[in-house]
Amino acid sequence: MPYSGLSKRIAELPKSQIAKIIKIAEEDKSIISLGPGEPDFPAPKAVKAALKKAVDKDFTHYSPASGRKELLEAIAKKLRKENKIKVENPEKEIIATAGSSEAIMMAIMSTVDVGEELLIPNPGFLTYRPTVELIEGNPISYNLSSTDGFQIHTEEISRLCTEKTQGIIINSPSNPTGTVLKKKVLEEIASLAIEKNLLIISDEAYEHLIYGDAKHLSIGSLNGMQDKVLTLMTFSKSFAMPGFRLGYATGPSELITAMQRFHVYTSLSPNTMSQIAGITALEKCRKDVERMRKEYAKRRKVILEGLRQVQGLEIEVEPEGAFYAFPKITNGMSSVQAAEFLLEKARVLTVPGNEFGTQGEGFLRMSYATALPKINQAIGQLKKFMK
Ligand SMILES: Cc1ncc(COP(=O)(O)O)c(C=O)c1O
Repeated sequence: MPYSGLSKRIAELPKSQIAKIIKIAEEDKSIISLGPGEPDFPAPKAVKAALKKAVDKDFTHYSPASGRKELLEAIAKKLRKENKIKVENPEKEIIATAGSSEAIMMAIMSTVDVGEELLIPNPGFLTYRPTVELIEGNPISYNLSSTDGFQIHTEEISRLCTEKTQGIIINSPSNPTGTVLKKKVLEEIASLAIEKNLLIISDEAYEHLIYGDAKHLSIGSLNGMQDKVLTLMTFSKSFAMPGFRLGYATGPSELITAMQRFHVYTSLSPNTMSQIAGITALEKCRKDVERMRKEYAKRRKVILEGLRQVQGLEIEVEPEGAFYAFPKITNGMSSVQAAEFLLEKARVLTVPGNEFGTQGEGFLRMSYATALPKINQAIGQLKKFMK
């Protein structure tokens, strides 16, 4: 008899298309995939060597729940230098996590009680909503619209706040839109957070992947925000290390300490060997990050130019960060219809925009973390089939 004891909470998790999409792309190599949200580059050579060395030197044991001291110190140095975030005591103000996915889960579990509210972007990264729901909190969407560049409207945030609102998740550069939040918007959100006593969970997974004149600014570096912002970072995107499962969070020591306590009951710590490789990434691989960013910048130009020539799609907002284009569908098809049509006829895999929330309906997410010849091939197919 099939197992029937699944919890209601798990049975009600949204059935994400992403896992299905990744499986299709893996199984059928004739499909040109603009689907998955991970770098196509291998991890930097020095990182791979450091990982191998860590295995040979028997760094195969558990690590402390906060993360290894040497890694926390390297992260603190990077946060101070690159993000202008003040860190006084790395062991109390930073936690290393199994990717930022784990940090998102732990941050929400540590700050939102049953029935309390957390503001989340719509469209936004697809784990925010189910994670809040899993703990019986209330995710409240704030709308991002292409008509104003997918920037956040602070008046809307203010209107959505109730006495149950614990905080807000912001994500810049954004998955799925590629939008980089403007400094003015970040300053307004910071003021509002102080006024309403909100925690800002700032997901900066794509912090280094910025193009043109855009600049990445960590909201945690703004004056007076040290105790109001939990900043989430990862090695997955900029350093092309998604399989290492390594990320980190920094913020108020009370919250970080709570997350460290909680870590004992989740994964205990991220992979010890990955943590050692992470130190090498931070200390020796900034050139690799820049090399990959430059390549993404080239691909971004090609995909945007190409998409402008595809009937039935429109680039309303130029993405300035991450590695996603988010064209609008203008031929009347829904997101799912367009993605299915393109997969079947053009053999190009895209992600329906509604996967990221109701405001993503009518859009497709196309990842350009794919080699240039494939992007060119995909554009050729889109031009041929999309009407
Ligand atoms: C916005 C955003 N945040 C967090 C993550 C999680 O990444 P990881 O758990 O690999 O650090 C992703 C991955 O796609 C993402 O797009």
